[in-house]
Amino acid sequence: MRGTQPIAIITQNSTMREILHKLDKIAMSDSSVLLVGETGVGKEIFADYIHKLSSRSLKPIVKIGLAAMPSELLASELFGYEKGAFTSANGNKKGLFEVAHTGTIFLDDIDDTPLDIQSKLLRVLESREILPIGGMKTKAIDIRLVSASKVKLQELIKRNLFRSDLFYRINVVTIEIPTLRERIDDIPLLVEYFIKKYAPNRKLTIDKKALAYLTSYHWPGNVRELRNVIQRAALFAEDEITTDDIPNEIIQNSPMEHIISSCSVCFNQKGMEFSMVMDCLEHRLLQQALEKAGGNQSNAAKMLNLSLSTFRDKLKKHQKQSHFCG
Ligand SMILES: Nc1ncnc2c1ncn2[C@@H]1O[C@H](COP(=O)(O)OP(=O)(O)OP(=O)(O)O)[C@@H](O)[C@H]1O
Ligand SMILES: [Mg+2]
Repeated sequence: MRGTQPIAIITQNSTMREILHKLDKIAMSDSSVLLVGETGVGKEIFADYIHKLSSRSLKPIVKIGLAAMPSELLASELFGYEKGAFTSANGNKKGLFEVAHTGTIFLDDIDDTPLDIQSKLLRVLESREILPIGGMKTKAIDIRLVSASKVKLQELIKRNLFRSDLFYRINVVTIEIPTLRERIDDIPLLVEYFIKKYAPNRKLTIDKKALAYLTSYHWPGNVRELRNVIQRAALFAEDEITTDDIPNEIIQNSPMEHIISSCSVCFNQKGMEFSMVMDCLEHRLLQQALEKAGGNQSNAAKMLNLSLSTFRDKLKKHQKQSHFCG
């Protein structure tokens, strides 16, 4: 591990382990990496991880959220300006691409980038040169690019909200980080990690029932939401975190609500079409029933009030072709 402080990515999930393994390999290359995942899954911590493992680890990693600002301000933040470029430009200002020179630049929320900034980014990434606003001379920049998106950019390309040529520049390697509900085996480990983090000098534990609620919740805010829940619980709990220390929305949420609300995420944020969302919902209901029934298909069918043959037909259909959000 290069750099000064290791980045702790806590996981025991096999998909996540594969991702980390892949990252260990690609971090040393200079390939651009696109991290895709819902809010709170760990895109930023992954960007730090890539930077720390790379040959640029002793150089800066410069981060910028592309959603937060109007285009003009964003352009001056990214590319800088020269004295006199506009009325308030009293001196030269280095852009973040220049600050990141020889290091890594992390473009967060790339899915929210305004189209005019997308064209400018494309130019910079193609030429590896920047031209500060009001400047006459380009400056060469040597950067490693890591970007993060909450949605699959292909969906935005279809809707003309994202340039496909920029997409091909930034996604030499795409890493899709699974949601927390797709890796519930990580929940106990993360809970333990956050307890140690937020109650370092206490022997704080969590009781089984509280942990069971945490494991069956659908975590729309992913690891960040879990972190906040444990941070709050650690403040109030004495020796043991119990259900009393867990927010009501987690206790009251039924598994069916979990499924429906995660489907609405696909519908609203991932740009899936209605038929795809319904397909995905059916798949998840079948899977959940199977899990509950310990793999016994006739009991799973009974839970859903379906005949065994209908249940099996549906399972077969999903094995052949389906649209899953996970
Ligand atoms: N596997 C993990 N192990 C330890 N901490 C984690 C892990 N994943 C996420 N975190 C922590 O959870 C919080 C949210 O992670 P992060 O900011 O990287 O998410 P994000 O995907 O960038 O979210 P957003 O899209 O909202 O910006 C951070 O405090 C991060 O350190
Ligand atoms: Mg982030």
